[in-house]
Amino acid sequence: MKEENALLEGERCDSKWCEVRRSGVHGRGLFAKKRIPEGTNIIEYLGEKIDKEESNRRGWARIDLAKETGDAAVYIFTLDDEFDIDGDMPWNSARLINHSCEPNCEAWIEGESIWIGSLRDIEKDEELFYNYGFDLESWEDHPCHCGARRCVGHIAGEDYWPELKKRIAAKKGRTAGVLKKSPKRQSA
Ligand SMILES: C[S@@+](CC[C@H](N)C(=O)[O-])C[C@H]1O[C@@H](n2cnc3c(N)ncnc32)[C@H](O)[C@@H]1O
Ligand SMILES: [Zn+2]
Repeated sequence: MKEENALLEGERCDSKWCEVRRSGVHGRGLFAKKRIPEGTNIIEYLGEKIDKEESNRRGWARIDLAKETGDAAVYIFTLDDEFDIDGDMPWNSARLINHSCEPNCEAWIEGESIWIGSLRDIEKDEELFYNYGFDLESWEDHPCHCGARRCVGHIAGEDYWPELKKRIAAKKGRTAGVLKKSPKRQSA
């Protein structure tokens, strides 16, 4: 069965390597249209260049919106110490790339541009993923459904995994304690 391109009206995907499709991990994602060799610049993360002050303002505004509506994502990428890229634009299809704990891509910076590039050879029809690199500030709000063998269960950068695993174990311990203490059922 031919996979459907899931671009919406007004959106664009200008890469010859990939296209937007429905994802089994979450919503829509980007998929390889053909075999992509390791080290390829697949798609540029396009957007508006903004300074850190504006970036903070937009970031917090979108987090507030997400709390209100449950439906808003932050698409801001660090460019350097002074500037970020806000990729919340319909022509930036790279914003739709999902996270994986075992990614086949990563973001790299070339001059003023952010590229999503392949970490290994990627087969036609594979979904593209990178690690979002989130810190642990609100780890419980970001469960991961990437399905990778080494999935840690939450979206977080690898540097945070040792601490994340401790927190998950501590939480499990607390839940088990609560279950043990709950009163026994009475038989009828
Ligand atoms: C930048 S969007 C990615 C595009 C998204 N799939 C869409 O259709 O809009 C980021 C959001 O996608 C979801 N997401 C991405 N990767 C995920 C994963 N591995 N597990 C669960 N949710 C994920 C999370 O809700 C995250 O906040
Ligand atoms: Zn995962």
